[in-house]
Amino acid sequence: MLIPVIIAGGNGSRLWPLSRSHYPKQLLRLNGDYSMLQNTLLRLPADLRAVRPIVVCNQEHRFLVAEQLNDINVDADILLEPCGRNTAPAVALAALQARQRETSAQIFICPADHAIRNPEALHNGIRRASLAAEEGLLVTFGIKPDRPETGYGYICMGEPRGEHHLIERFVEKPDAQTAQQFLDEGGYLWNSGMFLFRAERYLQELREHHPQMLAHCTHALLQGEADLDFVRLDETSFSRCEDLSIDYAIMEHTRDGAVVPVELCWNDLGSWLSLWDHLDKDKEGNHLKGDIIAHASYNNLALSDHRLVALLGVDDLIVVDTPDAILVAHKSQAQEVKRVTDTLKSRK
Ligand code: GDD
Ligand code: MG
Repeated sequence: MLIPVIIAGGNGSRLWPLSRSHYPKQLLRLNGDYSMLQNTLLRLPADLRAVRPIVVCNQEHRFLVAEQLNDINVDADILLEPCGRNTAPAVALAALQARQRETSAQIFICPADHAIRNPEALHNGIRRASLAAEEGLLVTFGIKPDRPETGYGYICMGEPRGEHHLIERFVEKPDAQTAQQFLDEGGYLWNSGMFLFRAERYLQELREHHPQMLAHCTHALLQGEADLDFVRLDETSFSRCEDLSIDYAIMEHTRDGAVVPVELCWNDLGSWLSLWDHLDKDKEGNHLKGDIIAHASYNNLALSDHRLVALLGVDDLIVVDTPDAILVAHKSQAQEVKRVTDTLKSRK
């Protein structure tokens, strides 16, 4: 059995002020009728859509998540984290839950912050990854890099084995110089952030590399409370987990990593710039949503919830108007938005 797992507990602070801690980016309807969370489920292949998924998210968002799943007729096990501890513990919870359903279950881990324009390529990749996972491998989905991006993991492809490659080396978020070096050397793929493995295999890796984390997650689930579709985790145990991503915790260390190369039109909608790349543009190169007037203005991204916004003679701006905050930023500063949220946090 292959069980889809959606990890949807990030706070998306680089999309401030649209993405807020009480309404994070994966729940926003940014392009079209569905949120990123809903699109993540809707793009699964038909056989996987027939399997009850596991969704791991923050308990603060439980009603929004349940409502969005209900809107697309999806019943799920919804695991509620009392606090964010990054993806290694989130995946551990899902693996424990999946193993309870079936000891040999495989899990397909999907981040909820991706846009994929050609899901058929993903469906084909899932089939190949599932075969590799049967051999006990921890499988990633690799994408050909086209720039020295520092926000991604890099996978050095080893020996080919039929439809996958063994991973020679996994480097999470290298600095700019190292990323450029990987690009020049060739033979590296970006980690897309999706994973597929047997639940038990992941738990074995945790037992080896982070036994405490495994113990805390096991307790958090055992002592948690089930309430309809929700499973509320025990806060005392879960909050003891180290804050660590699956990439640093496991993928950089495992000896059994594999990568399935996939030709995906893929985008991690993590920042205003990557969102900008993904959105449709008008003939002036603008993406304008809401009540917006633009004259002699090019290549801007402007969103307004309610107020009228006018752009005059400005280029390459991000303008986001929400009821209680306005962002006006140059596109070149897209990665710096986190500075604003850091400042806001320090004010509290
Ligand atoms: N449940 C839960 N709890 N989910 C979380 C948590 C958490 O504490 N933290 C993050 N997530 C979810 C996010 O909502 C997102 O869907 C996914 O996990 C990935 O987290 P990001 O924080 O967006 O990771 P990233 O983009 O910096 O890096 C990862 O993805 C890249 C590709 O997009 C890594 O896997 C990189 O190696 C990879 O290249
Ligand atoms: Mg991301």
